[in-house]
Amino acid sequence: MEENVRLWKNFTGVYELDGHLATCNLTPGLRVYGEKIVEYDDRELRLWDPRRSKLAAAILNGLEIFPFHKDSKILYLGASTGTTPSHLSDITPDGLIYCVEFSPRMMRNLVDLSQLRGNLIPLLDDATKPHNYLHMVEKVDVLYSDVAQPKQSELFMDNMRLFLKEEGIGILMLKARSIDVTRNPKEVFQEEESKLKTNGFRVLEKIDLEPYEKDHMAFICEFGF
Ligand SMILES: C[S@@+](CC[C@H](N)C(=O)[O-])C[C@H]1O[C@@H](n2cnc3c(N)ncnc32)[C@H](O)[C@@H]1O
Repeated sequence: MEENVRLWKNFTGVYELDGHLATCNLTPGLRVYGEKIVEYDDRELRLWDPRRSKLAAAILNGLEIFPFHKDSKILYLGASTGTTPSHLSDITPDGLIYCVEFSPRMMRNLVDLSQLRGNLIPLLDDATKPHNYLHMVEKVDVLYSDVAQPKQSELFMDNMRLFLKEEGIGILMLKARSIDVTRNPKEVFQEEESKLKTNGFRVLEKIDLEPYEKDHMAFICEFGF
């Protein structure tokens, strides 16, 4: 490995290259969203843009809990065209990522991407109706939710209850302005956090995503029993 490339903390599959985050490209030579590719040894690193991916923003802002491993099973809500799922796909070459997205337009790109990346499973469905895909998704190690809509916390909790393993971790990327555009985001975050707690979830970590994303907070959660 080149001298200026090193692992980020003890995070599986996450590299640091001159202050940038990167993951090791599972499909060498292919870009997903125009990201820069850097060669090292006989492999390729894809730079991970924190302005395009909230997970990268959370990592750069000090995230300590990184629950992803090479063989993790992940349920990803709001997969869009696959920017962040593609980096998770690099990180979990022996795992599976169930990608729920309800926009047919986004899904077209996601289907193309999953034909190249065998660990991505695209599901055209509505994350507010998890029973729709109950028969297609197994219990997962990590639930990742990035669905900007008013009932973000509720749909996150519903999916957690149905799909997360007992010892699993949930990551909720909360956008305050999608819950109420008129209210102070700090109040919204507090209210959503107490909703999580009242419903039996423990919040292990909170990461503000500024300056990469305005009025967004990452909540890292587990079951509270
Ligand atoms: C902020 S984008 C996700 C970006 C993506 N997570 C990434 O980092 O690459 C939010 C996505 O959620 C999708 N979405 C919104 N409501 C949804 C729902 N109820 N079910 C499934 N997908 C939904 C939108 O179509 C959009 O593609």
